[in-house]
Amino acid sequence: MQGEAHTFRMYDLITKKKRGGELTKEEIQYFITGCVANMIPNEQQAALLMAVWAQGMTDRETTDLTLAMAESGETMDLSSLPGVKVDKHSTGGVGDKTTLVVAPLTAAAGLTVAKMSGRGLGHTGGTIDKLESIPGFRTSLTMEEFFDGVQKNGLALMGQTGDLVPADKKLYAMRDIIAAVDSIPLIASSIMSKKLAAGTDVILLDVKMGSGAFMKTLEDAEKLAQTMVNIGEAAGKRTEALITDMNQPLGLAIGNALEVAEAAEVLRGNGPEDVREESVMLSAELLYLAGRGHRDECRRIAEETLCSGKALEKFCAMVRTQGGDDAVIRDPSKFARASVVHEVLAPWDGYIVGMAAEYIGGVSVMLGAGRDDLGDAVDPRAGILLRKKYGEQVTKGERIATLCTSKEDVVAEAEKHFLEAISVGAETPQPRKLIYARVEKDKVVRY
Ligand code: URA
Repeated sequence: MQGEAHTFRMYDLITKKKRGGELTKEEIQYFITGCVANMIPNEQQAALLMAVWAQGMTDRETTDLTLAMAESGETMDLSSLPGVKVDKHSTGGVGDKTTLVVAPLTAAAGLTVAKMSGRGLGHTGGTIDKLESIPGFRTSLTMEEFFDGVQKNGLALMGQTGDLVPADKKLYAMRDIIAAVDSIPLIASSIMSKKLAAGTDVILLDVKMGSGAFMKTLEDAEKLAQTMVNIGEAAGKRTEALITDMNQPLGLAIGNALEVAEAAEVLRGNGPEDVREESVMLSAELLYLAGRGHRDECRRIAEETLCSGKALEKFCAMVRTQGGDDAVIRDPSKFARASVVHEVLAPWDGYIVGMAAEYIGGVSVMLGAGRDDLGDAVDPRAGILLRKKYGEQVTKGERIATLCTSKEDVVAEAEKHFLEAISVGAETPQPRKLIYARVEKDKVVRY
């Protein structure tokens, strides 16, 4: 394939990386330009990605890959919007509805939130699917509508436009089918290219760690976080990461409308403590990165904004502006209910010592809350309400979860898989942390 400035042979690039060599900036640019222009055969794309998966990349290579990807399509220019533009991004989890709290909370506290979010894939949920469970809510906006929404409310949330980072669309789809998703340089460049193209001043990454996350250990999560933070800082963005627990689902609700209802409860000052605490921590950190004072002061602002009801009002204002009915946010019992509601009863006595988040996410997909393929539709009402969580005591016959679906025929199998995802012991397990560490440029602070 002919590059614009340099011509290389993909065969040579693959050979170099396969043997552990370091690709130059020009070679990386050639690969990305060639992929987007459909000039590199799939076999060679796959071979180079697998060589990167096996051999890794240096920080310099990962940064060059990220920048080449970020510039592979359109980029957002948010400079006409007032205030500090902030973005919070999670690496993907089960029951993680913190964006639905953090975005209105920080906007209510005076930051500017112009955010593009994704859909769920595999066992993890996505903010866009969740928002679409609100009757009438539009996530597909023109740029004018998006900017108008931010001007009006300080907050707009939309799906990613097709023209942003086309290189990631191609490479992610390829990685997905060749089993090369779980690679630190490939995940870091995929996420950070989209964050850089989205044009905010501040980027806060919520790197999930545990059974339901890409990163299963704290060491790997710290490495991914450090790689992404250093890329963001090298590109001139104020960037940090928090490493948070994904050894069990976050909160009690998993599934689109169920999660919006739970987030609305948190915005009202109720809801599960873990969702509230993580949302407040993330919001306080965004306020800190945006220069609103010391961490203690930012925590106080975040708490006060949540307690005052201003975050809830901000969320309702965004919902109305984007065509949605905020009645369901003010009273989540108005959400449409699933036609099949099945209680799961404990077949054992003991303490819950494990909740495999990945499998529980898979059960919620089976019930209709997620999709196996990108084009599938999701059922907004489907999902799981957990009645017991890690560390709690259960007695035989007690209700431990409620399965919600419109597919009666999957219930028996979903219940079987759900029970397999729960481990029970004779004693209370050690308490787990919700937030493990904060990662700054070249620095990790463990909590
Ligand atoms: N999320 C992304 O956007 N990309 C990855 O590679 C993994 C998670």
